[in-house]
Amino acid sequence: MKSYTSKELREEWLNFYKSKGHVDIGAVSLIGDGTTGVMFNVAGMQPLMPYLLGKKHPMGTRLCNVQGCVRTNDIESIGDECHCTFFEMMGNWSLGDYFKKEKTAWTFELLTKVFGLDPNKICATVFEGDATVPKDTETASLLESLGIKRENIYFLPKEDNWWELAGTTGTPCGPDNEWFYPIRENKCSAKCDIGCKCGRFFEIGNDVYMQYEKTSDGYIPLQNKNVDTGFGLERLLVFLNNLQSVYDTDLFRDVIKYICEKSGVQYGASDDSTRSIRIIADHMRTSLMLIGDRNGIVPSNVGAGYILRRLLRRAIRHAKKIGLDTIELSSIAKIFIEKVYDEAYPFLFEKEAYIISEIDKEVEKFNKTIELGLKEFEKVINGINRKIEFLSSQNPNFKPSESDTIISGKAAFRLYDTFGFPIEMTIEIANEKGYGVDIDGFNQAFKEHQELARTTSSGAFKSGLAGTGEMETKYHTATHLLNAALKRVIGETSHQMGSNITSERLRFDFACDHKLSEQEIKDAESLVNEWIAQDLKVTREEMTKTHAVEIGAEHQFLDRYPDNVSVYTIGDVSKEICTGPHVEHTGVLGKFVIKKEEASSSGVRRIKAILE
Ligand code: ALA
Repeated sequence: MKSYTSKELREEWLNFYKSKGHVDIGAVSLIGDGTTGVMFNVAGMQPLMPYLLGKKHPMGTRLCNVQGCVRTNDIESIGDECHCTFFEMMGNWSLGDYFKKEKTAWTFELLTKVFGLDPNKICATVFEGDATVPKDTETASLLESLGIKRENIYFLPKEDNWWELAGTTGTPCGPDNEWFYPIRENKCSAKCDIGCKCGRFFEIGNDVYMQYEKTSDGYIPLQNKNVDTGFGLERLLVFLNNLQSVYDTDLFRDVIKYICEKSGVQYGASDDSTRSIRIIADHMRTSLMLIGDRNGIVPSNVGAGYILRRLLRRAIRHAKKIGLDTIELSSIAKIFIEKVYDEAYPFLFEKEAYIISEIDKEVEKFNKTIELGLKEFEKVINGINRKIEFLSSQNPNFKPSESDTIISGKAAFRLYDTFGFPIEMTIEIANEKGYGVDIDGFNQAFKEHQELARTTSSGAFKSGLAGTGEMETKYHTATHLLNAALKRVIGETSHQMGSNITSERLRFDFACDHKLSEQEIKDAESLVNEWIAQDLKVTREEMTKTHAVEIGAEHQFLDRYPDNVSVYTIGDVSKEICTGPHVEHTGVLGKFVIKKEEASSSGVRRIKAILE
């Protein structure tokens, strides 16, 4: 078998198909053109769809290229040996030109004559047919006539041997012929064949016979019979060079080495750290490709920009996990740009300064809140554990069920809104620690927040401090006391969700999953009155936001505060980031009375209280 560098393999591919009359059409942007609703370019055929459906291509009927693709649907698999969020697909196409006879022969020639594979070992799978599309016996016979052993040809169902763009209609599709090769001896069982999950058979690539159009109620034949071939550059490099994983190829080697050097972690030392190293390498490569793309994007909270943000923030978290300084992330991007893709993607080099600055910006932004968010995460988990401990102490037979170890949607939303944790990151961290996340609850909180933001920005109501007269000032301090009291009565998971003060009363919204009992209301009220009776001193200090959170100051929307904040401390019962104003001693507040406790929205309760 011949071995290749990535550069040699790209060239080999293009030269082979050029020798068969194909024209190299070059690559298009990684960002989807919106025609299929797909966010990124997921396959070499995607930009060619109109031509597969019958439109005349200006470069002819035999085309080839090496096309960058981004697939983020299996982002959770990243860190294994062969999944990448960005990869290069080497492709070639017949647009109503040649069909199965030529294609099977050329792929066979490439594999045996050029790559040097043993024809006796080559295995292939073809479509077994179903109610709508017949069995692909034609391809099977052609493969056999080329010299592939009959026992090495497998007929498989639609989930294996049919190619279409999921979730689309009006797109080309068809039966698929996949090529496999055994990469080691059978250590599995006598029955071990292509369908076995043991990994003995390596999938090299596939030829799709795009001869149908997918409609909303089935498949209709296309006017042209087309061929769509896709061979992944990364996985082919692994295969031809007999490597363990894509991270051992020349595309990743330097970056992996760099990450190990800078973090002091040895590659392969543990499954966990190896996975983190791979995630960092993969996500940084995809991120720089998306930023540097001709239709480049930047991190944001919507659409493709959000996927990019997720990739970068996940890389940041894994860097922290293995002790890699996050300033190294842009240096990793530099290695890719300057050393790995300098020839294949020279435009990245031209945009290097811009790419690096966008990465650094996002790193800086998330660095401000990630540590605090991770601490908040611990608090949430501690809250859950305390609840489980409490329930166990009440009932010795208590066994926590799955629902007892779920992080609430509100808490997940707070991690998102205040600390910038993408929900997927919260889920990932939770799962690592053996907890779940209430995703529906998160979505609900997200929706409610959006609605609230709309109402607020349309000026429908004002919140917070309407005026700052003497009574308002008193109510402001009383609100801090109430917040602190509720934390003691309900638990740490209770925290402020909103506040509204007039000269007549305070109104306080807080996270809580149940209606307060009479006892809880009484306890909170008594605590506040106790603290008033103690005439606690109220002090104000200025400090950085980070320091404020470090010393445990309460906060509602961390993202929205300036870098320097005021922290108000009341005795040793309360510490909150706040703009004030406040009274100087709690003794002046008078008697605190809770007038009403009611639901505000799901998971949020509301208290109205007065000072008498
Ligand atoms: N469109 C086929 C693939 O993506 C070739 O694998």
